[in-house]
Amino acid sequence: MPLLLYFWLLLLATATCNAIQFNQVPLSAPQDWNLNTLPSPNATGHIVFDTVSSLLEHWPNTKYHSGHTIVPGTIPAGTLLYHGRNDPDVPTAREWAATDSEFARLFCVEPEDCWLLTVVTTRPLRVLYFDGSSANKMPDGPMDIQDLLIWGAVHPERANPDWEYERLNRLCDTFGFDAYIRMQLNFEIMLCNFTDGVEVQTFVRLEDEERFPHYAYAFYHSSAWHDHYPGDSRFHLDLTHAISLYDTALAPSLVSSRHGQTRRDHRVLGIDEHDTRALLARVRALRLESFSSNSGIDWRAMFHSIRDRYATRLEVLQSVLTEDTPVQSAFILLQTLLAPYRLHSAVARSNGSDTAWATPVFRLCATADTLFAESESVQATLTPSEHLLLTAARETNREICRTLVVMWAEGVVSLSSESRWRWRAEVDRLMDWLGWAAWNNCRPACVFPESCYFPGAPFSMEEWTSWTPRCVRLFEPYYGIPPVRV
Ligand SMILES: *[C@@H]1O[C@H](CO)[C@@H](O)[C@H](O)[C@H]1NC(C)=O
Ligand SMILES: *[C@@H]1O[C@H](CO)[C@@H](O)[C@H](O)[C@H]1NC(C)=O
Repeated sequence: MPLLLYFWLLLLATATCNAIQFNQVPLSAPQDWNLNTLPSPNATGHIVFDTVSSLLEHWPNTKYHSGHTIVPGTIPAGTLLYHGRNDPDVPTAREWAATDSEFARLFCVEPEDCWLLTVVTTRPLRVLYFDGSSANKMPDGPMDIQDLLIWGAVHPERANPDWEYERLNRLCDTFGFDAYIRMQLNFEIMLCNFTDGVEVQTFVRLEDEERFPHYAYAFYHSSAWHDHYPGDSRFHLDLTHAISLYDTALAPSLVSSRHGQTRRDHRVLGIDEHDTRALLARVRALRLESFSSNSGIDWRAMFHSIRDRYATRLEVLQSVLTEDTPVQSAFILLQTLLAPYRLHSAVARSNGSDTAWATPVFRLCATADTLFAESESVQATLTPSEHLLLTAARETNREICRTLVVMWAEGVVSLSSESRWRWRAEVDRLMDWLGWAAWNNCRPACVFPESCYFPGAPFSMEEWTSWTPRCVRLFEPYYGIPPVRV
């Protein structure tokens, strides 16, 4: 592999400013470099990209509350976990814990009799994480995947607390992980054994908590710590074994049930028996896998470098495509966005409608991040999950680059204010397609010490589909905090 890398570096270094080197890259699938080809409405690479780069983050997993991803991982030794209760008994059976004591404390249902147990992991715990708002006991999707794994079918009528111990027991008995991770504003750990892999650090009776403006306000604080990247960093996920129900090779039956639906409404309810069996086989095999990949690629870092590169600048591009901003401002931003790919050899033809001259720029932009992983020798080392991640990065980059290059090429040939509304519609379409929660922001920005609050279950039910976060003050004088209904 280092030899191959050296070869590519040499090639790139010696190539003059043209795109000849691309012809020598063996691609796993033939790619369409027509600048007018939109992504298929059934393509899911961009959604895999977004979900995988949003794992363990509060906001994106609230925005799209029905999870589609299952990822194995570990909790390192020395990690503190908290369990709140109303009696001084250390649990001996399977139970829940949280990574933040503020969450655990909610379970001191009678706050005047609150016992907080702190346990510490004595070895790495092997865990399985369900994305989305997977601890929300709601019948419309968040628990679908857990149901599938333990009952082989989705049971919306069991999305209530009465079934929780049954869920815990079946997950523990069937899949053999030490714990299962779910989110409900904050992260909870379903521990399969309270005496194996963890030991009691402290078990204390606490003073009644200050409860202004209500008893869960400290929980809001702790939930906000994991709003955005990197989310809750105490869980170490192994993306090279991530399983996604957006993987159309794993679950082809879901393609038709998603057809025509907005992403918010996607769920895995429509999966057929064959695909359910395939999913179960993949999850069962996880326990036996050694968590390693030979490629060594850091997918999380790759995905985030792509997001970093585009998230803010696309938002600014959208904001300058308005009546009172000269269209030149948008064009300058397009030039900046495409700067590393604007080849000296790509010269505009005078005929405005033919954009073929810009194709090498498109290809350079679309393949930059994935060229290494696309090579045959590296592909041979990838796990099935990594192939999915590669496709996700490739499809996402392709559409971002295609959209930008089409606008830029038009501007190179002739820049006129008539382009503005078409460009605005294109940028809106692209951002909607990408769906990144980074763009659901408080506008105007909150003023310190306010925090930008994204409404979500189990509180704020009447407003949580609005996707419009608002500024709240979690310190006195409090405002904006939704009432608690557990
Ligand atoms: C928990 O682990 C201990 C020690 O390995 C074992 O003796 C016990 O049976 C386990 N309990 C459960 C509920 O699996
Ligand atoms: C998308 O999937 C639907 C449902 O399976 C199918 O009817 C449609 O033809 C597909 N569209 C494309 C462009 O593949």
